[in-house]
Amino acid sequence: MPRTLKIAHLSLDSPFLLAPMAGFTDYAFRRICRRLGAGMVFTEMASVEGLRRRSPKTLHYLEAGKEEKPVSAHLYGADPAAFAEAAAVAESLGIFDLIDINTGCPVPKITRRGAGTALLREPEKIAGIVRAVRSAADLPVTVKTRPGAVPGHPRIREVLRAAEDGGAAALIIHGRWARDRHGGEADWEIIGEIGEEAGIPVIGNGGIASAADALDRLRRYRVGGVMIGRAAIGNPWIFTEAGALLEGRPFIPPTPAERFRVIAEHLEVLARSKLEEARIRGRDPAGAGNAACREFYGHLVGYLYGIPGLGELRRKIAHLPDPETLLAAVADLLKV
Ligand SMILES: Cc1cc2nc3c(=O)[nH]c(=O)nc-3n(C[C@H](O)[C@H](O)[C@H](O)COP(=O)(O)O)c2cc1C
Repeated sequence: MPRTLKIAHLSLDSPFLLAPMAGFTDYAFRRICRRLGAGMVFTEMASVEGLRRRSPKTLHYLEAGKEEKPVSAHLYGADPAAFAEAAAVAESLGIFDLIDINTGCPVPKITRRGAGTALLREPEKIAGIVRAVRSAADLPVTVKTRPGAVPGHPRIREVLRAAEDGGAAALIIHGRWARDRHGGEADWEIIGEIGEEAGIPVIGNGGIASAADALDRLRRYRVGGVMIGRAAIGNPWIFTEAGALLEGRPFIPPTPAERFRVIAEHLEVLARSKLEEARIRGRDPAGAGNAACREFYGHLVGYLYGIPGLGELRRKIAHLPDPETLLAAVADLLKV
């Protein structure tokens, strides 16, 4: 069983990767996950149309830092030419190690434009997009996808062939059918089958609830890596634990003080990023701290899950106007 995962020339130091999640996997969270053991991290979804125009808003979605490398730019779109231009811009930023193409987002706002899972109907277009990106940039390309639109009608073999024909370095499969969005079970049997058939590494994703689950999927199915999404929200230590399990080392769960340090770092980096976003969008910078608190809410509930007093903090949270006040309340709750 592999302990490292190789994608093109990149040797990852762990086969457990952080999934791209819009609204969650920003720079602040990714750098924490990477430090705590994720083998690679993916940006939030960025539009190729925005990126080719160097739209400040899109570039902000792609804010990244060298401490999180290897980091992949996760892009969505429908047009191979736009992908090519966007890939060249992504490469010129000088920070990304890889470009990942979204063919797995089932949200109508995206599929209406022919992007995300709409591309599952046009595998030859996926091949064209991969080819276009490869010819425009020197970075390895991966494709993130689904088994198909509806259960029982797999398109994944055509997508695998398209990815391989286009020259992709790996295929990432979220094992839920597009119709099921993020609910129901992920079909790991089909992920495993494609892993057997593929000539490139396959990374499996979907339904990992714990480090033990991640190791189980890596052991049971023919995958080079396992990608973790929601289970990492509030628990970036899942990567440390999965790595420890894989290598037979003990895992020491975070102390309340360590938990607090990570929460504080996350919120501080997020607040800095919100300040920059306010500047880009011409908003009042005075609101940036509050915007960071609001965006942090989903993470915070995850970080504090199961800790007595969280219910009360949740009721108060709307009235905690800035990161300092919020952190003081969290310190109180964690008794640090
Ligand atoms: C809030 C949220 C946002 C997501 N955004 C994206 C995205 O932008 N691009 C993408 O390919 N997948 C996206 N996903 C899907 C995840 O990458 C992953 O495939 C999915 O959550 C299954 O993994 P999990 O069961 O471990 O959470 C998102 C999922 C969630 C929950």
